[in-house]
Amino acid sequence: MADALKIGVAGLGTVGASLVRIISERYENLATACGRAIMVTAVSARDRSKDRGIDVTSATWYEDPAAMAREGDIDVLVELIGGASGAAKDAVNAALERGIHVVTANKALLAEDGVALAALAEEKGVLLNFEAAVAGGIPVIKAVRESLTGNTMTRVYGIMNGTCNYILTRMEKEGLSFEDCLKEAQRLGYAEADPSFDINGNDTAHKLAILTSLAFGCEISCDDIYLEGISNITQDDIRAAAELGYRIKLLGVAQRTGGGIEQRVHPTMVPHDTVIAQVDGVTNAVAIESDILGDLLMVGPGAGGDATASAVLGDIADIAKSRPGAQTVPALGRPAKSLEPYKRARMRSHEGGYFIRMRVADRIGVIAAIARRMADNQISLESIVQHSANGERDAPTKTIIMVTHATTELSIRNAVKAMESDGYIVGKPQVIRIEKP
Ligand SMILES: NC(=O)c1ccc[n+]([C@@H]2O[C@H](COP(=O)([O-])OP(=O)(O)OC[C@H]3O[C@@H](n4cnc5c(N)ncnc54)[C@H](OP(=O)(O)O)[C@@H]3O)[C@@H](O)[C@H]2O)c1
Repeated sequence: MADALKIGVAGLGTVGASLVRIISERYENLATACGRAIMVTAVSARDRSKDRGIDVTSATWYEDPAAMAREGDIDVLVELIGGASGAAKDAVNAALERGIHVVTANKALLAEDGVALAALAEEKGVLLNFEAAVAGGIPVIKAVRESLTGNTMTRVYGIMNGTCNYILTRMEKEGLSFEDCLKEAQRLGYAEADPSFDINGNDTAHKLAILTSLAFGCEISCDDIYLEGISNITQDDIRAAAELGYRIKLLGVAQRTGGGIEQRVHPTMVPHDTVIAQVDGVTNAVAIESDILGDLLMVGPGAGGDATASAVLGDIADIAKSRPGAQTVPALGRPAKSLEPYKRARMRSHEGGYFIRMRVADRIGVIAAIARRMADNQISLESIVQHSANGERDAPTKTIIMVTHATTELSIRNAVKAMESDGYIVGKPQVIRIEKP
């Protein structure tokens, strides 16, 4: 049997501790499957005295993960610290500069610096593997980067944040408010103490930016993503969606259009009878549309120590199985130099159906005025429904719910602005985009 593959694990938190435990529990099986043993020879975390439920006494402890990457007796750096800068970035750069392989779950770092890191890995002839960075345990990176090579991908979209999907699912199933569901998610450990990164869509945006690059062969561009979170979603939206045959999900969508590549993260109405609409709780799902294969949907655990460690371990096993001197797979699926510059499609040109819910004064002529504004902007309505507040026929305001046929974002924005200037709308209209598989 070949020499053991020596790995240094930087970060022994939720994912790192799971990984070390699994490697120790499955040492023999892994050695048989990979043709060589996988040994944790070095580790780094902040607090050496913390009980992590794992035995790392045989590994060399490093206070500084970058020092471990530079000098440790390791063949692979496994970076499980997180964050786009600081210790994680320093350690990954140091390992690549030294010419050793890197495995990371760090979407924030890749979304910011993925192209530069991929170029450095190529220059040094080493692997930069990051299966766990997008949709946790679901093997979506390998599918897009390797298995679908030769396909032209047209759209990639999915539910990539378990916290948001958990909150939206509970809101729907139990009729609870967004705030109550968020508190429950925090109590169960599904949401961070500061959940803003998840619920504002930033976490999904990081994952989407990486997928976009792999799917469309372009540079990673996280700053160009249109972003809307889920905190404005109310029970009224969820109920209206159900009545119309939709469910609301936070989707990340990347799509090739005539005007460039669209990247957007926002609450989305998906038809109730689609598979992605049935993905509940913390589960993730990623859909890929391509010309040779057709439609692919992958559903599975998007987070959690063991699920994420499973993806990290797969990346390590790929390195263990590779032969010394063998050609390496470019991190972003093609040589970094051949990635095209990202061409952003303007959000105002986005085409699709829209759901609009608004409260209006109960006056004669309001429906006619709404219809006129829609016609002025070439928007055709699929349905329009009027509800009285709390079912009271004499209430001073009514709720209007509209679903449009495919139109543009600009038309919708102009129509809503015109209706607001007409003066019959009470409060702020809710606009939710519709996505059809
Ligand atoms: N958790 C998930 O479900 C999940 C899913 C997909 C991807 N990921 C990604 O996986 C990575 C790790 O996530 P996690 O949830 O395991 O994080 P975590 O539980 O917060 O663990 C982070 C670890 O990094 C260590 N650390 C922090 N700063 C350090 C420094 N300056 N030097 C050395 N060690 C340092 C911490 O040490 P101490 O323990 O001593 O404080 C801790 O062990 C992140 O990139 C995350 O985005 C996580």
